[in-house]
Amino acid sequence: MNYKNLVTEFENGILTITINRPKALNALNAQTFSDLKQLFGEDAVKLENLHGVIITGAGSKAFVAGADISEFSSLTAETAKELSQRGHDIFNLIERFPKVVIAAVNGFALGGGCELAMACHMRIAGEKARFGQPEINLGLIPGYGGTQRLVQLVGKGKAMELLVTADMINADEAYRLGLANHVVPIGEEVAKAKEIISKIATKAPIAITNTIKCVNAY
Ligand code: HXC
Repeated sequence: MNYKNLVTEFENGILTITINRPKALNALNAQTFSDLKQLFGEDAVKLENLHGVIITGAGSKAFVAGADISEFSSLTAETAKELSQRGHDIFNLIERFPKVVIAAVNGFALGGGCELAMACHMRIAGEKARFGQPEINLGLIPGYGGTQRLVQLVGKGKAMELLVTADMINADEAYRLGLANHVVPIGEEVAKAKEIISKIATKAPIAITNTIKCVNAY
């Protein structure tokens, strides 16, 4: 598997994907979206003996700090709609992926980065993780499904507060709200995700795929 902005490792039935643009805090640009579409839409489904997928961010600072803001300046109403639709389509691919997908959140998960983490089936937060939807500061809304997924994860009242204030929350608060499944020491996010997938690997795979489908139908 060859991608411009993703580094992948497939070991013991676990596919680990690292979003690799650390200088831009792993912001999701068009190329990264295209890589994710190729991976989740084409390549990963063909992997034999795949038990689960982990998404993390390169470097020590960020999971993903959002959509790449530098690509926004030339948008028109029409191309902005297309950009939002592209994000929806790719995040839906992740949410509907037949194997468990876990976000290992190793730093900032902001805007589209928080939306990406929420499209995953679970989130492991490192102690340094920060979650937030700061789009309102840019005159935007979370345009990749975050308004819906945040409500599902933390409830309407708290989601509304986070969305309209752009407040950033730390890992402990994310855990308290149900946004993060676990909080682990810095650097242990991927290991914890691997531990969970290894447990899942001992269970019935078809039942797991159908469980994902049923939970998504909620
Ligand atoms: C492009 C980004 C970026 C982003 C950071 N960078 N976030 N580039 N898109 N979303 C770049 C910076 O420009 C900078 O590049 C480098 O990463 C390091 O960032 P700094 O700001 O210098 O770091 P720091 O001071 O530590 O602040 C970290 C931060 C801040 C708090 C995470 O970078 C930040 O607020 N970023 C924007 C977060 C955001 O608003 N996200 C939501 C985007 S909108 P240089 O070249 O200067 O070193 C979105 C909408 C989705 O996601 C839906 C659309 C339809």
